Amino acid sequence: MVDLKGQYEAIKEQINTTFSTILETSAFINGPEVHGFQKELEDYLNVKHVIPCANGTDALQIAMMGLGLQPGDEVITADFTFAATVEVIALLNLTPVLVDVDPDTFNITPEAIEKAITPKTKAIVPVHLFGQCADMDAILEIAKKHNLFVIEDNAQAIGADYYDKDGNKHKAGTMGHVAATSFFPSKNLGAYGDGGAIFTNDDELAHTLRGIVNHGMYERYHHDVVGVNSRLDSLQAAVLRAKLPLLDSYNIKRRNTARKYNKALENINDIILPTTRKGYGIICDKCTCHVFHQYTLRITNDKRDALVKHLNDNDIPCGVYYPIPLHKQKAYVDDRYNDDDFKITNQLSNEVISLPMHTELDDEQINFITKTIIGFITG
Ligand SMILES: Cc1ncc(COP(=O)(O)O)c(C=O)c1O
Repeated sequence: MVDLKGQYEAIKEQINTTFSTILETSAFINGPEVHGFQKELEDYLNVKHVIPCANGTDALQIAMMGLGLQPGDEVITADFTFAATVEVIALLNLTPVLVDVDPDTFNITPEAIEKAITPKTKAIVPVHLFGQCADMDAILEIAKKHNLFVIEDNAQAIGADYYDKDGNKHKAGTMGHVAATSFFPSKNLGAYGDGGAIFTNDDELAHTLRGIVNHGMYERYHHDVVGVNSRLDSLQAAVLRAKLPLLDSYNIKRRNTARKYNKALENINDIILPTTRKGYGIICDKCTCHVFHQYTLRITNDKRDALVKHLNDNDIPCGVYYPIPLHKQKAYVDDRYNDDDFKITNQLSNEVISLPMHTELDDEQINFITKTIIGFITG
């Protein structure tokens, strides 16, 4: 699904030199690489504060802790996402409220959010799934109307642009009160181990978050709030620093691959191509709204599972993200849910398939993958 070795080859010298320096200086934690990366990411995103941490799951949890959410507060998020999003809500004894998503973009819908709001609702967590933003204009408007926090789960969309209703461009993860991202190796900006970060434009919140990531300390050995231990280490920061200037070019390569997949697979019965957010054009080199963390098709007429098997038999990796809706997962079932309210997520779980997507895919591989799919579907 990804080719991390190929990507490493292109930046090998830089990485090896920086790694040697870190090993020589032994500045493994909170060294200059971490501070340098933090500043460079703030510049890239045009956000006031980046708080690096150990992984994307921690980033979400720390963001919720920083906002002061209390047990019993309801947090609305998408039924169709990776479990980390809902896991941290549950871990903090907040109440997760899962809602359905849009069949074209796979993202949470403003209509479903509005329907789920109660007097206990305190926050919305839009997940920018597979590489493009949820409908942030509408979500921010709902949040304003109901006085709710917006926590963007930006684990899958770093580098994506969002054009608001006035035509202003924003980077994914800079529009809500706070955002969380992951630098897991397979992410668009991936480390060589775990890593994550929280972003915010709120100075006070940033200060609170900086203490929470470090055992609740604002002054050495003074623990003012309950915190956690969540650090990005220097080796991971060095990798991220080397890759950050290349992120836009990585995302262009991903978009080019998506365009080639689209061209090869268009107008074929039983295949529904991914949609880039309506209003912002078809997929092209200039459309920067989608960074294709995943290239995800819908395969209709119950053919998805057979296609997965066929691709596996032909040594083509593929993924099903996500095969079971969260409202049906044992850990998160809840009497409040009515299966009929999750029609789209239920359908997507049976139809989605993600194809190999990374910066090193070549035309020969893309042709082989698409021909194998077409052969199976039309054969
Ligand atoms: C949508 C989403 N949220 C959160 C996370 C958690 O990130 P991490 O694996 O770095 O903890 C992921 C990771 O895959 C994700 O895809």
